[in-house]
Amino acid sequence: MAKIQLPGLIDAHVHLREPGYTHKEDLFTGTSAALAGGVTTVLDMPNTVPSTSTPERLAEKVALAVDKAVCDVGLFVGATSSDLDAYLPAAQYACALKIYVNETFGSLRVDDLSTMHRLFRTWAERADELGGWRSEAAKGLGPIAVHAEDLMVPVCVLLSDLYDVPLHVVHVSRRSEIELIRVAKEKGSRVTCEVTPHHLFLSTEDLPRLGARGDMRPHLGTPDDVAAMWENLDVVDIFATDHAPHTLLEKASETPPPGVPGVQTMLPLLLTAVHAGRLTVEDIITRCVDAPRRVYSLPAQADTFVEVDVDAEWTVSDEAMLSRSQWTPFAGMSLRGRVERVTYLGRIVYEEGQVLAKPGSGRVLFQGRVLFQSE
Ligand code: NCD
Ligand code: ZN
Repeated sequence: MAKIQLPGLIDAHVHLREPGYTHKEDLFTGTSAALAGGVTTVLDMPNTVPSTSTPERLAEKVALAVDKAVCDVGLFVGATSSDLDAYLPAAQYACALKIYVNETFGSLRVDDLSTMHRLFRTWAERADELGGWRSEAAKGLGPIAVHAEDLMVPVCVLLSDLYDVPLHVVHVSRRSEIELIRVAKEKGSRVTCEVTPHHLFLSTEDLPRLGARGDMRPHLGTPDDVAAMWENLDVVDIFATDHAPHTLLEKASETPPPGVPGVQTMLPLLLTAVHAGRLTVEDIITRCVDAPRRVYSLPAQADTFVEVDVDAEWTVSDEAMLSRSQWTPFAGMSLRGRVERVTYLGRIVYEEGQVLAKPGSGRVLFQGRVLFQSE
C-alpha cells in the first residue's frame, strides 16, 4: 500500500448553508465533511438566508464559524443590486466579492450592466485607495468572483480588463467558456478560473441515471464539454467543488433545487485520475493548494497535512458522506485513493472515518490573515 502525504487542500467554493438552511448542512457538518475529504480550508458562499451582503451579516457568519467550524473558513460577500454602499465596507473583510450573474439557487443576483459596471469600478477605486494591486492590502481585497455562464463570461472579462480588476470565473463548464478564457489569458487579462469535479467526471450522459441528483448550475456538460475541460487543464487554475448540499427529499420533490455535494469526494476522484494517468499529484497540489492560496491570498497552515493511501480501492456510498445531506452524485463509483488521516495545525482531526476535532476548533480567515481563532 503506497502512502503519500499531501498539504491540506483548499476548497475555494462551498455552500455551508448557515444561517438559514441548517437542515441541509451547517458549519460543523460541512467542515467535518471537508476534513474527511482531506480539505482543511473552505471558502463559503454568501447565498444563505439572510445572504451575506452587509457588514452585520458577515459578522454574524464569522461568529457562527468561530463556534462551529473544524477547519479554516474564509467567507465571500455577495453582491446585490440594491445594497451596494451597505456591503462594500464588508467586502474588504471577506476573501472576495461574489457576483451571481446567472440564475441559480437563492435570491442573490446581479445581471444589469449599471450595477456590474459600478461594482468593478468601485473595486478598482478601493484597490487604488489601498495602494494599488501590488500592495499586500489590495491583494487581500481579493478578486471579483463571478458565476457567469456563456455570453456573460466575455462581459465579465471585458469589465475586468477595463478596470484592471482581477476576475475569477467559478465553475466553468462549457468548451466555449474555457476556450474564451484561454484567449483572454493569452492576451493578458487578469482572469483565473475553476472547474468542479462533477464537470470533470460526469456529463449529460449520466443524467438518465442521476435524475435530479445530476442537476446543478451550471448544468452538467456534454461529453465534448467535459473533454474540453481536460484538454485545457493548463488554463484551469483551481479545482473547487461547488459543494451545494440539498436533502434527498428536496431533490425528489416536484421542484428540486439545483446543486450537489462534493467536498468529501474531490480528492479521491482526482487521485483516481492520477491512477489512470490523466493527472499528476503535482497537478492536484497546484490547483487545490497553491492557486487558491494565491488567488484569495490565504495564509499558510503550519503542521497541516493529509495522509492518503493512493492504492486503496473503495466504492463511494451515500452512507459514507459526513455532509448532513448524506448523499453524493458519485455513489456507486469505484475509486482509487483514500484519505486515512488529517492533521490540522498540529492535531489529528480526522482518522479512520471519524472526525476528532471539536466544533469551534477551526479558524476564520480574512484578507489573507487569521481573523479569529478560538483556542
Ligand atoms: C448552488 C446552491 O445550491 O447554493 N447550486 C448550484 O447548483 N451550484 C448555487 C451556485 O453555486 O450556483
Ligand atoms: Zn456555488
